[in-house]
Amino acid sequence: MPAIVLVGAQWGDEGKGKATDLMGSDVDYVVKFNGGNNAGHTIVIEKNGKREKYALHLLPSGILTPTCTPVIGNGVVIDLAVLFEELDGLEARGVDTSRLLVSANAHIIAPYNRVLDKVNERFLGSRKIGTTGRGIGPTYADKMARNGIRVQDLFDEKILRQKVEAALALKNQILAKIYNRRAVEVDEVLEELLGYAERLRPMVADTSLVLEQALNEGKTVLLEAGQATLLDVDHGTYPFVTSSNATAGGACTGSGIPPTRVNTVIAILKAYSTRVGEGPFPTELFDANGEFLRKTGAEFGTTTGRPRRCGWVDTVVGRYATRINGVTDFVVTKLDVLTGLDTIPVCVAYDVDGVRHDEMPVNQTDFHHAKPIYEDLPGWWEDISTCRTFGDLPANAQAYVLRLEQLIGARVSAIGVGPGRDEIISRHSLLGD
Ligand code: GDP
Ligand code: IMO
Ligand code: MG
Repeated sequence: MPAIVLVGAQWGDEGKGKATDLMGSDVDYVVKFNGGNNAGHTIVIEKNGKREKYALHLLPSGILTPTCTPVIGNGVVIDLAVLFEELDGLEARGVDTSRLLVSANAHIIAPYNRVLDKVNERFLGSRKIGTTGRGIGPTYADKMARNGIRVQDLFDEKILRQKVEAALALKNQILAKIYNRRAVEVDEVLEELLGYAERLRPMVADTSLVLEQALNEGKTVLLEAGQATLLDVDHGTYPFVTSSNATAGGACTGSGIPPTRVNTVIAILKAYSTRVGEGPFPTELFDANGEFLRKTGAEFGTTTGRPRRCGWVDTVVGRYATRINGVTDFVVTKLDVLTGLDTIPVCVAYDVDGVRHDEMPVNQTDFHHAKPIYEDLPGWWEDISTCRTFGDLPANAQAYVLRLEQLIGARVSAIGVGPGRDEIISRHSLLGD
């Protein structure tokens, strides 16, 4: 089987975790290829007649499927304390986590990078990004500056010491002289990192090779993105982005699987829009409708608990996601949240200082000035959470999905009508038919 990529189409929290979990036993490997514990993927499953909720930050969603091998790819940045906390938490709930593989080339979030993320945001004041404060940006910056610490370095103490010394030589100057913080001791960092080495050792693998062999054996590999298209460091609303490539291209560099192996790209699109942190958001609502979406959709961050900014769906963003990722299939999530509205505005284009833009403006200033041009679609009042086929949906809900499909330029293959595993309408297989 070829590889399948799954990405977020908007600003994150579209329901990637649920969509990945949905494919569950049809998939042999689920690979996280970018980001770290800035992500928060929620999965709700039915166990002994009760709904159980899992929030995963660092682990790929496939960890909840017993037949699936979860993989942390080379493109990920790992906070080891969070990794083991998350593994322990799952084990305590009866989930077998022994299959997890971790790339030897993945980078480690060193304790000083957590500190730097927080003090840097404070330093930026009103110009802040609104990061999750997990050390993501400084760790990717180290990776690009060739100052990073990799998983494999934990198994060579001499090299590890040299690398930490080199990193701290500069960072301690910055911490002490710019931020007025205490310097970090080399031994303190070594002690913390080496404390995890033995537990990590059996999980470490050449994951690119493992995945190549799996694909050759006809296995199905799903590459699951953290974050989303507009948070991508190259293609997002820079500088209000995360520091990794969350779009489909990142799936290849972040896993070591070549592009010629990928034939399906699934994008998850929420039926409305949300964003956490700072940055432009043309369809953002500041009125009762925004409050309605936040409340009905329970739009509070899985990772930081921050209230998410809410707005109507933006099909300029959807079209852009189709283009940048080469989307073959969309999963539209949270359609149920829109139930009970008389009309539902859909953003079809932008007005930028009197000029109509049907495509994402390339210029950052234009995007900041973009005013949505809406098409009003009629709403529905029926409870749709029990619908299981497209035909079960009220006519106006069907029309809403079909209009989205037209505007975003790729087929909608599944529709989420609730958080549960079974609360989904499937129109086409997501496995690349
Ligand atoms: P991710 O980061 O993309 O995995 O998304 P999050 O887990 O951060 O946020 C999505 C939220 O929506 C979670 O609480 C999910 O349980 C929930 N969810 C996913 N799909 C649906 C859906 O179709 N309907 C409703 N009501 N909730 C959903
Ligand atoms: P999932 O995978 C939503 C946002 C942060 C901030 C910006 C940069 O659950 O969709 P960072 O800590 O990455 O340097 O923060 O990116 N952000 C997310 N927003 N969902 C996420 O992940 C996010 N990961 C980062 O709020 O605006
Ligand atoms: Mg999330």
